[in-house]
Amino acid sequence: MDDLRDKYIDLIGKAADESALEDLRVQAVGKKGEISLQMRELGKMSPEERQLMGPKLNALKDEINAALGAKKAALADAALNERLQAEWLDVTLPGRGRRMGSIHPVSQVWEECTAIFADMGFAVAEGPQVETDWYNFDALNIPGHHPARAEMDTFYMHRAEGDERPPHVLRTHTSPVQIRSMEAGGAPTRIICPGRVYRADYDQTHTPMFHQVEGLAIDKDISMANLKWVLEEFFSAYFGRSVKTRFRASHFPFTEPSAEVDIQCQWKDGSVTVGEGDDWLEVLGSGMVHPKVLQAGGIDPNEWQGFAFGMGIDRIAMLKYGIPDLRAFFDSDLRWLRHYGFASLDMPTLHGGLSR
Ligand code: PHE
Repeated sequence: MDDLRDKYIDLIGKAADESALEDLRVQAVGKKGEISLQMRELGKMSPEERQLMGPKLNALKDEINAALGAKKAALADAALNERLQAEWLDVTLPGRGRRMGSIHPVSQVWEECTAIFADMGFAVAEGPQVETDWYNFDALNIPGHHPARAEMDTFYMHRAEGDERPPHVLRTHTSPVQIRSMEAGGAPTRIICPGRVYRADYDQTHTPMFHQVEGLAIDKDISMANLKWVLEEFFSAYFGRSVKTRFRASHFPFTEPSAEVDIQCQWKDGSVTVGEGDDWLEVLGSGMVHPKVLQAGGIDPNEWQGFAFGMGIDRIAMLKYGIPDLRAFFDSDLRWLRHYGFASLDMPTLHGGLSR
């Protein structure tokens, strides 16, 4: 029994982990363990022998169990200590700075436009960027043979051979949303639609994707005078100073009469300032909605009339914030974004003041 005791106390002391310890428990005091087998022998002994050996074996069993328990606790302690060492963390170290992202000038100006036009009673409308050629052209009085289709450098969606569906395009302007909102809401209506548009064009002032904000107001007695007032009101609020406008007779298939609108500006040392000087810069196309367009939108042109305009968001962003090259808008260069971006919580509102 002393040998058994020494052997197991020694082995338990050396056990490296819980599973080794469990093996030892089975070997010693498990059902078929060495000590359990010894206890079975008790039955064969004389009563005197049994009285001597019984308590001794029981004591041995208790001692082994106690040693197993103690070793188990010691192993758990050691494991915990090891983890505490490994996962030690100096909470007094200074934190790593996390740079906040910034709001892109286009997003900023998009919000500014929305705030100003919302204040004048315009709701925001939306339409898909992949359009049918009907919404992008036909409904806007641009039939298939019309030169405007070619002029717009349209991106057409791929059609597999034998696919006879009518063509889809990346919308070349936000004007299809005029039709969609006439269909959805009828007249009277007052909406703007800021959004992405696409044309196959690329140089310092053109990118294949850019942004426009469309405007549409339809009622019984809307005239060019209302258009002029709304736009002048817009430019004054947007640039934070009064800005003269110039309406130049122009042509769009979807408006009659049509006007391109310039704003007053001054060029000095290659940079431009709006609202002073006697140069002019074109910023939008506009006009009275063509009767055929009202009709395509399901509105009776004998009863209703209205104005529409389409303005380049990127263009007016460049003008207000002095950004020289349009292409940089979409390069995702972090240095550019940090320089021209806006603080993320500094959202433009009329009462808070638009950013300057
Ligand atoms: N859709 C025209 C363009 O992209 C702009 C425009 C909109 C003109 C509405 C008149 C009326 O050039």
